[in-house]
Amino acid sequence: MNLPTRLLVFILCFTTLISCKNKDQKPEVAATVKTDYYTEPYRPQFHFTPEEKWMNDPNGMVYHQGIYHLFYQYYPEDIVWGPMHWGHATSKDLVHWEHKPIALFPDRHGLIFSGSAVVDFANTSGFGTEDNPPLVAIFTYHLMEGEKAGRKDFQTQGIAYSLDNGDTWTKYEGNPVIGNDGIKDFRDPKVFWDEVNHTWIMSLVAGDHLQLWNSDNLKEWTKLSEFGKDQGAHGGVWECPDLFPLKVEGSEEEKWVLLISMNPGAPNGGSGTQYFVGEFDGEKFTTDQTEVKWIDWGTDNYAGVTYDNAPKKERIFIGWMSNWSYARDTPTEKWRSAMTVPRTLSLRKINGDYSLFNYPIKNLELIIDETDKKEITVAGDSKEILPSENLNQSEMKFQTTTKDFQLKLSNSLGEEVLLTMFGEEKQFFLDRTNSGKVDFQDDFASVQIMPVSDLPEGEYEVRVLIDHSSIEVFINKGQYVMTAQLFPSENYSDLTIENLGDAAFALEGFQVNAVKRIW
Ligand code: FRU
Repeated sequence: MNLPTRLLVFILCFTTLISCKNKDQKPEVAATVKTDYYTEPYRPQFHFTPEEKWMNDPNGMVYHQGIYHLFYQYYPEDIVWGPMHWGHATSKDLVHWEHKPIALFPDRHGLIFSGSAVVDFANTSGFGTEDNPPLVAIFTYHLMEGEKAGRKDFQTQGIAYSLDNGDTWTKYEGNPVIGNDGIKDFRDPKVFWDEVNHTWIMSLVAGDHLQLWNSDNLKEWTKLSEFGKDQGAHGGVWECPDLFPLKVEGSEEEKWVLLISMNPGAPNGGSGTQYFVGEFDGEKFTTDQTEVKWIDWGTDNYAGVTYDNAPKKERIFIGWMSNWSYARDTPTEKWRSAMTVPRTLSLRKINGDYSLFNYPIKNLELIIDETDKKEITVAGDSKEILPSENLNQSEMKFQTTTKDFQLKLSNSLGEEVLLTMFGEEKQFFLDRTNSGKVDFQDDFASVQIMPVSDLPEGEYEVRVLIDHSSIEVFINKGQYVMTAQLFPSENYSDLTIENLGDAAFALEGFQVNAVKRIW
């Protein structure tokens, strides 16, 4: 650098320094980058989305050395589904995320479909050492050429490992580790370490049922059992299984929970996730459950599974906030689709029956700006209108005993989303028929119905999270849950609380709290 240039650089640096000091802020350039980032219409501000392009299922959810990994089905070339890779992000608190390079690329065995990841602490695979245990990813290979040729054996299972906590991955040279004898839909391996029997257990779906496999080294697998041909809902193909133990709250009893996503055939159309509560004896999963149970009654929570190795054995669930009926058509341009907020799963026994609750993780409170709590009383057959500036990025919360209310979020264009509790029918409705852009696909403009037959007699909580293009409703701490996408043409600005009964009711501890952006 010659002297005049050096001088110029010095003057520039000096003036920047002064101006920064004076204004007590970072140089403008940095500020611009931050504010421009992730501000497109409909971009969720506190839910995970990829920086760009198509995303579907969460994959490989594992916690290791202070880091929560989130891999996901990813097509880096377009905003519609295409040849699948595993995208990757990490988090220290499950609230703020850091984007990482793509972890797994398609290879000669096929595209990289959904699967899981484990920490191989005892180095059973031999990929690492006991001092540096490998992360092992277990996924489905989907061989397009096989499918196109009309064969049925195009889905096999493969593995890959990482010795640097997920930064780089090596595929196992002996892949695939499970071949295919001619089952068309044979995929989505979810693996855990069985502490009682000292072996790895894999849940795998095969069209209309679950298969359980085991292995001592993650490389050689033996089929143990099948479950489900005659159990549960069968309106579509079974996908993305997850099997794990859970304590029944307030007791020493432990049960096993099996999640099975299914598409189509969900109660409000398209994709949905059912669950079974039963026993696992090291070989077989069994249940005496006869009723079909759903983890979420909204249309937009699919392919959700839980974290492996989470601290304190917490069961943390994340789902893909979309539905195969219209996932490719939603009106976003740079990226497509988001994940649900991470939710803690818990098991309760209600009226002699097991119920799986799902409720936002505690850490979400880190980004919620608590406002004062109010008590709102609404006289019989009347309504209260509350203008609410931050509605599109907010948490609404209250306690009540009423079973006859309607909440309406609306904007100046007359677009509205309605949440209605009908006590007599014991049903809750989410109506998005006039919520904004709805005509991009025929099935989107729906009224979604959820039976709420076991709500407590007394007070219960209603909590709603709204994040620009999604709404998540948690009733009674996650006993009844609905998740749905929304695409309002402008922000919702009014909240109307309507009393559908003739006696006055009160909403206690009522709050609409702004939620901070995480990016
Ligand atoms: C579920 C699913 C999985 C499959 C993946 C492909 O949404 O269909 O069964 O592995 O998506 O992207």
